[in-house]
Amino acid sequence: MKIFAITNQKGGCGKTTTATNLAAAFAQKGKKTLLIDLDPQSHASIGLGAIRVEPHDSVFSLFSAGQENAKKIQDLAIKIESGFFLIPSHIILSTIEHELKEREDGLLILTKAITRSDLSYDYIVIDCPPNLGFLTFNALRAANEIVIPVETSAFALLGVGKLISMVELIKIKLHHAPHIKGLVTMFDEYSDFAEKMLQKIKYIFKDKLLKTIISQDMALRQAQEKCMSIFKSNAQSRGAHDHLGLAEELLELEQQESSENIFHEMRKILHGVYGNVYSKQKVFQFYAPHAKVVYVVGDFNNWKMDDNSRLERSEKGEWEKSVYLVPGRYRYKFVADGLWLWDPQNTEKEPNPYGDYDSVFKV
Ligand SMILES: Nc1ncnc2c1ncn2[C@@H]1O[C@H](COP(=O)(O)OP(=O)(O)OP(=O)(O)O)[C@@H](O)[C@H]1O
Ligand SMILES: [Mg+2]
Repeated sequence: MKIFAITNQKGGCGKTTTATNLAAAFAQKGKKTLLIDLDPQSHASIGLGAIRVEPHDSVFSLFSAGQENAKKIQDLAIKIESGFFLIPSHIILSTIEHELKEREDGLLILTKAITRSDLSYDYIVIDCPPNLGFLTFNALRAANEIVIPVETSAFALLGVGKLISMVELIKIKLHHAPHIKGLVTMFDEYSDFAEKMLQKIKYIFKDKLLKTIISQDMALRQAQEKCMSIFKSNAQSRGAHDHLGLAEELLELEQQESSENIFHEMRKILHGVYGNVYSKQKVFQFYAPHAKVVYVVGDFNNWKMDDNSRLERSEKGEWEKSVYLVPGRYRYKFVADGLWLWDPQNTEKEPNPYGDYDSVFKV
């Protein structure tokens, strides 16, 4: 089961439109999908006809009750279309932040609710509110994939850096590393300004930007007014086509990732059998005599901090780790006591989408 959080603290950038129609598009592709409306404004719920929902029938019950009385996800999900389910929101959700953020496991409530329930969904899509508060943090913690809708307007990129820093914080503090993907929304192909913004967004996100672009389409607004997904409202529209394309791209990326994982596993096995034939040794060294723990993370290990990426310390305060890699070009960073640092011994660096630099090497 894959969990997507659709988030950006900027208001009105297309989060709800993306979340609703992406969830519906997954269902169109035969994937059982649950949309969780985590925004107290309840736009996704209203836009799908779930109005006059009682608080105890909404996502609020996942957060409000003590663990033992908490309702399960499957008790709350309502069927919208074939294969497409919704947990609606309620304005009362906006009152709980203050109360719950003091709770030790406050940021894990949604993650726990998902894992506590024995779910049969292929995908969960979470629509987040337009802020970086408690609810959004819960969604980021639960998600494996974060989709950031960015509309091609003047202030679209403001705050994206802050959001990405928050994901970094989750990586460091909670050892959870969801993938980030940017999505261009509300694109007006006849506007020169939109085209300029598109180039800017491409430059910032680089390979993290999804190829699918969601164009401006009145049919998407009309679908919300009719309280339907775009597929029920106007299946022939540009908006329907774009969201189906988005689901297809995400499904394809998932397949690629799983074949990369298989390849990675096979490489490990081959390495065990044939030693160095298929891969070359790369030794990472980092001088930090006062650090307590140092990792090397990069695209060769999915930027994961775990036992396999931890460096060993020599008596002189030099940290070292050797890894076997197939020939190629790799990006990496050291993480010393939670601080992400480029390699001071390597002058080759490249800007990353977070406004910082990654070190680069070839084997
Ligand atoms: N591709 C599009 N073409 C035309 N209108 C769109 C498109 N995407 C979104 N809209 C409209 O723009 C408005 C804002 O979109 P949406 O509600 O999806 O944004 P949001 O980021 O969820 O907003 P909020 O931050 O308030 O939650 C809505 O009226 C929606 O119908
Ligand atoms: Mg919204």
